[in-house]
Amino acid sequence: MTASTRQIEAQVVELDALCDENYRVRLSCAELAQQILPGQFFMLRKPGCTDPLLGRPFALYDTVLDETGRAVGIDVGFHVVGKMTGIMEELIPGDTLEIWGPLGNGFPAVQTDHLIQVAGGIGYTPFVATSREALMQKKYGTETDRQRIQAKKASLIYGVREKRFCADMSDLSDIAGLDIQLCTEDGTAGHHGLVTDLLQPMLTENPGESIIVFTCGPVRMMQAVACLCADHQTECWVSLETPMACGFGACFSCVVPIKQAEGEWDYRRSCLEGPVFPGSEILWEQM
Ligand SMILES: Cc1cc2nc3c(=O)[nH]c(=O)nc-3n(C[C@H](O)[C@H](O)[C@H](O)COP(=O)(O)OP(=O)(O)OC[C@H]3O[C@@H](n4cnc5c(N)ncnc54)[C@H](O)[C@@H]3O)c2cc1C
Ligand code: FES
Repeated sequence: MTASTRQIEAQVVELDALCDENYRVRLSCAELAQQILPGQFFMLRKPGCTDPLLGRPFALYDTVLDETGRAVGIDVGFHVVGKMTGIMEELIPGDTLEIWGPLGNGFPAVQTDHLIQVAGGIGYTPFVATSREALMQKKYGTETDRQRIQAKKASLIYGVREKRFCADMSDLSDIAGLDIQLCTEDGTAGHHGLVTDLLQPMLTENPGESIIVFTCGPVRMMQAVACLCADHQTECWVSLETPMACGFGACFSCVVPIKQAEGEWDYRRSCLEGPVFPGSEILWEQM
């Protein structure tokens, strides 16, 4: 854990349904909210609960500000897949969760003409904060001289299997200037096909424009995005959703294979050295 990492009990303020099996929970935790940066994450656990025993990692969806503009809480977007998210689906205002963070590196403070964000499924959650920061609509963290993500324009390509899994996009649609393109694998909404069908023409449509790609979602989707970016010599950063036990570098349960110099590779802890890595450095065949 870094000096700024805190473990507290945070109170649930509200729980909203976003779409089938997807929710957003608002937690009151001012200190963490004031420090956390886009792409960083935190661990959540139910106090006193032994099943599940371990905390679970979740990305920052967004910070919640009070009427003076001070960060007083965070929103967490989640998909119900198992024990912890099953508990979270039943939360009511006043319940408490143990939370520790901020954790991980977050997305780098890149400067570019066009930031293209590619999300699959619940992997869209980090892109509310990255888009707001990139388009200079919100500030995160306490350091006044911190470099920020900056882009002249920002896009989000969002893919889901079928329309019923498409999240309530109102938080993203509220971000002025963010271009959003939806695709579904079965064609029930937006483009019928894969996120890479939409990404490919965007990488070449404006020669001379600098482009950086951020992606988060299923591993094979991120692999396809990273490969397409490599083919177009475009910088790409991936946020891995590797299962984690401790979240702060102690247990090595989250290691991922990362390329080293001269054809070598070694494991890196996704919770500490990640979860955001250059797409070109991941040994995708071993993921
Ligand atoms: C840095 C990071 C950020 C994340 N951010 C979010 C987020 O914002 N919203 C969100 O909904 N989820 C997010 N996740 C994934 C989330 O941590 C898992 O979905 C969660 O741990 C599931 O907990 P559970 O107890 O409900 O499921 P469990 O009971 O632990 O597992 C249920 C099933 O899901 C599988 N599973 C669990 N975790 C993962 C995983 N990470 N990848 C693939 N399969 C898995 C298990 O193998 C099992 O089959 C993030 C993960 C990481 C590492
Ligand atoms: S989760 Fe324990 S080292 Fe990464």
